[in-house]
Amino acid sequence: MCGIVGYVGDGNVYKILINGLYRLEYRGYDSAGIALGSAGKINIFKTVGKVDNLVNFCKDKDTDCTFGIAHTRWATHGAPSDCNAHPHYSEDGNIALVHNGTIENYKLLKEALEEHGCRFHTQTDTEVLVQLVSWIRHENQCTLVEAVREALKQVIGAYAIAVIAKDDPDTIVAARKQSPLVIGIGDNETFLASDATPFVEYTKDVVYLEDEQIALIRKGKPLKIFNFENEESTINVKKLELSISQLEKGGYPHFMLKEIFEQPNTLLDCIRGRVVQGGKKVVLNGVNDNKDKFLNARRIIIVACGTSWHASLIGKRLLQDMCRIPVEVEYASEFRYSNPVITPDDVVIAISQSGETADTLAAVEIARKAGAFVYGISNVVGSSIPRNTDSGTYIHVGPEIGVASTKAFTGQVMVLTLLALTIAELKGTMTQLEIEEMGQWILRIPKIVEEVLGLAPQIERLSLIYTYARNFLYLGRGYSYPVALEGALKLKEISYIHAEGYPAAEMKHGPIALIDAEMPSVIIAPNDHLYEKIVSNVQQVKSRGGSTIAIVTKGDTEISSIANHVLEVPKVPEMLSPIITTIPLQLLSYYIAINKEKDVDMPRNLAKSVTVE
Ligand code: M6R
Repeated sequence: MCGIVGYVGDGNVYKILINGLYRLEYRGYDSAGIALGSAGKINIFKTVGKVDNLVNFCKDKDTDCTFGIAHTRWATHGAPSDCNAHPHYSEDGNIALVHNGTIENYKLLKEALEEHGCRFHTQTDTEVLVQLVSWIRHENQCTLVEAVREALKQVIGAYAIAVIAKDDPDTIVAARKQSPLVIGIGDNETFLASDATPFVEYTKDVVYLEDEQIALIRKGKPLKIFNFENEESTINVKKLELSISQLEKGGYPHFMLKEIFEQPNTLLDCIRGRVVQGGKKVVLNGVNDNKDKFLNARRIIIVACGTSWHASLIGKRLLQDMCRIPVEVEYASEFRYSNPVITPDDVVIAISQSGETADTLAAVEIARKAGAFVYGISNVVGSSIPRNTDSGTYIHVGPEIGVASTKAFTGQVMVLTLLALTIAELKGTMTQLEIEEMGQWILRIPKIVEEVLGLAPQIERLSLIYTYARNFLYLGRGYSYPVALEGALKLKEISYIHAEGYPAAEMKHGPIALIDAEMPSVIIAPNDHLYEKIVSNVQQVKSRGGSTIAIVTKGDTEISSIANHVLEVPKVPEMLSPIITTIPLQLLSYYIAINKEKDVDMPRNLAKSVTVE
């Protein structure tokens, strides 16, 4: 949801900012812009479309400068256009600002500024902020940092901003509230970005800005951070664990395909050091260190959005089956406004790949205020959710760049499995033998996933038959129901084909009316305790002329004899089946989208990290 980059130093400012925008493009890609400053001058270039367009636009422009800020946008206020693209600037052209987030009271602020004679040229909330900073600075004859602080005190909303001024060269003022910003400290140069990817090759020393902090970044001077009361904060430098190779496609045509094929390794990384003694023991430090909280939990509430919400549904089943604890799963966006009843005996688990999803972060805040123990499951080290929860676990699957989540989903499900096993051992709800058996299966999962990836050529051929279907149903029961939801979401996101995930048995209560020869159903039917039940669901679809693609366990004969197409996966215990059955669905949506020549890594209207409500 919008990417911000800033740079002050002796390097090639334009090049560093543009490369940074390419790295952050996954966060939003409807328009991009750059403000290039040097003493007494700021050049602003911005265009609708991706960063490539901006680069073409800048070809014959003066990009010589000593400091600058840049932005890649995911529109909230005002359609994607050259004019609405960031940076926005004050009417006198002195100040330029980039923003990620939304200013909720922008209309009121705009009216007040108009009364003072300000004129506006865009439909954005951001232009209001830059005009406000400029007006305050003018009225009070104050420094840029003071004007930013006073302006932000009047703002209601979420933001990460970077501001520069013509009359304050080689300086960037940055601030955040509920949107991420990280500062990279190099040798005589300082970077600023929405995440650390733009500067990973330059420095590993990073400072994560906290909510309501303002950073003063100046060339040749130490970084300063203040709170809104103008008190100086201690600077806490952390070491970044990220390598440049993790941000490249590594020979794959798309990040999504790379990330699908990385899963044997990412799952290995996810379980490393957590399933030990040859599978005999499962150790999740976040749980073991907070035994009492989990042992005394009256119930567990899981909050998440999108794919992470699907992983949460699987988590609910795992926790209920293994630990016999009541579990509720909530969309974070609904939970936050539902006046939820939370007590200090509840454990709230927040799941988020990015660790920055605004709704999930808000749900965390509510749970903490209500006194619950809040546990985060995230992928991005140092992101807001891990920093705002009492404890948690990283899924350790490496950066996920493709907007459609794949390896993060299997990592989340794996961590939830480990979490349930760890609690089950503490509570004694599973025998040692049962735990060991699961532990040993978990160790085999990366190899099994590798085997499932061998289905890729078969799925690629199959995708050709269904590329032009206009609607799909995805059906599953038990552990396979959330897999059906996730399969449908993947198809929608990257191929723009309408797809619905449904509990297979619910189909007869309505959606069955949709079935005809034009409406394929993808049925997730591994050989589990609901297998016989789902056989009859396949028959119901077939007898109404619908075509069926079934994901079945190797050696299946019953469904294989009815379904139009079958994809066979190896047998694993039912509780581990979602990790296995989801892989063919990821590949199916990928190949269908490729056949339709869609941009699978940056699907239209989406953004990787949703930092607005
Ligand atoms: O970063 P998060 O896991 O909190 O993100 C939640 C959703 O925005 C995300 O899963 C989204 O649904 C993906 N595009 C799914 O592929």
